Amino acid sequence: MSNVYGRPCSCSEVRKMLVLWMLSLLIAVAASENSQSGLTVLEDSGSDGTGHDEAHVNDEFDDEDLEVFQPTNQWQTLKPGQAVPRGSHVRLNLQTGQREAKLGEEQQARYLRDGQRAVNTKTPSFTAQELKETLKLFKEGVDDPTHPQRREEEEALKAKFRPLEELKRDLAELDMRVESDVEIMRRLITKFNSSDATVEERVKALHDLEYLVHQVDNAQNLVSMGGMKLVISALNSSDFGLQGNAAFVLGSAISSNPSVQVDVTEGGALLKLLTLLATPRPVPVKKKALFAVASLLRHFPYAQGHFLKLGGMQVLVDLFQTPGGEALRIRIVTLIYDMIVEKELISQSGMDQIPDSSYQERLRQYSEVALLPVLAEQGWCRLVPALLASSEHDWREKALRTLLAMMPCCQAEFRQDRALSLSLGDLQTQYRELVLTEKDLGDEEGYFGEILVLLDTVALKMQ
Ligand SMILES: *[C@@H]1O[C@H](CO)[C@@H](O)[C@H](O)[C@H]1NC(C)=O
Ligand SMILES: *[C@@H]1O[C@H](CO)[C@@H](O)[C@H](O)[C@H]1NC(C)=O
Repeated sequence: MSNVYGRPCSCSEVRKMLVLWMLSLLIAVAASENSQSGLTVLEDSGSDGTGHDEAHVNDEFDDEDLEVFQPTNQWQTLKPGQAVPRGSHVRLNLQTGQREAKLGEEQQARYLRDGQRAVNTKTPSFTAQELKETLKLFKEGVDDPTHPQRREEEEALKAKFRPLEELKRDLAELDMRVESDVEIMRRLITKFNSSDATVEERVKALHDLEYLVHQVDNAQNLVSMGGMKLVISALNSSDFGLQGNAAFVLGSAISSNPSVQVDVTEGGALLKLLTLLATPRPVPVKKKALFAVASLLRHFPYAQGHFLKLGGMQVLVDLFQTPGGEALRIRIVTLIYDMIVEKELISQSGMDQIPDSSYQERLRQYSEVALLPVLAEQGWCRLVPALLASSEHDWREKALRTLLAMMPCCQAEFRQDRALSLSLGDLQTQYRELVLTEKDLGDEEGYFGEILVLLDTVALKMQ
């Protein structure tokens, strides 16, 4: 049975298939990387007569170019410019200053569920050098399993197909990450609080903290470690960089984090933030302060009531009219819109749910936030229409939605506003045409159509 077809698949055939498979992967990877250089495998025409033709890989790019980052369930350092598959988590390692990535939650679930299979079908990454070696071995017909080069290669392959036990161990190590975040935060807080740290070092510490506090547990730890107090006190430091970055840390830590919202409000942050907004500061500082205020007020009627009592709406009126603060206007109007709608939604949701005591309490708190009358009193019925003059579709959309939300308190004023009627008329004409274009392109329910409906509704309610 020396016939090659009669034998079970020989080692060289396996190798040949492996090489072909690696080549196709390599080409796919090169294509997906949008590499400008192609990869060609050239047979050396000048044979040395030994029958061992060398295969030459004509690679014009660096070995790194070929590597697709393969996330696992552990953080791994990314090389500069390396592409990361969609859905991976990427973070900055604050100790090394390098970017790291690992599997995202969804990817990880799939990784675990599919277990061994997923691991074995994982695309290995390899370099042009490795491919060269493999091709060379293939050419030389190194089939002897005891050949040192071959053994090495097998070891390398084995290392790429990691056993499930090892994966489980890696996952257990995930738990340690929380601890290390706490350690990093402690180091940053100590740095920030140290009397001999420069302003730059303190700003850098805030910058790094901001990165960490997006995670709910980290934000809570910042409070319990005493770091939040320091951040709040930096809001009225004498340096703009410290003020802005402190506001940024605050806003990020509060976002969707009710317990931190309470702590920060009790820590007196609101008054300091309003001071930042009410006094001359560079626009970037104001933007961050506004972000922090918006995070603080969202879904938190207690802070909203406080905000109104402190004259927050008046501060926003002045800010809205600040020359050079156009980028702040859309943010202010968004904040107003969110506050109105949030209150409406909670009153409505009460109709189809069994009221419990916490719901009753929230309803009571919202009832104390008399937002609409304050808006009318302070001239917002006049200010919000100004946003319609923007050339941005989404700004106009936000303005229209806010006009509708403000209708109960502003209707009379809107009716007398000649400029508003005119600009609504102009926009109706403009969007009717845009809707036609949209329909020509086959989009029956497009974005412009949505804006036109808003325009028509506002115009109708003003009649
Ligand atoms: C900051 O430093 C002061 C004085 O050095 C110290 O009393 C305080 O506990 C420190 N705060 C934190 C959160 O480390
Ligand atoms: C910041 O405000 C606190 C009171 O809220 C005050 O005691 C402190 O002196 C102020 N710091 C600066 C630098 O103005």
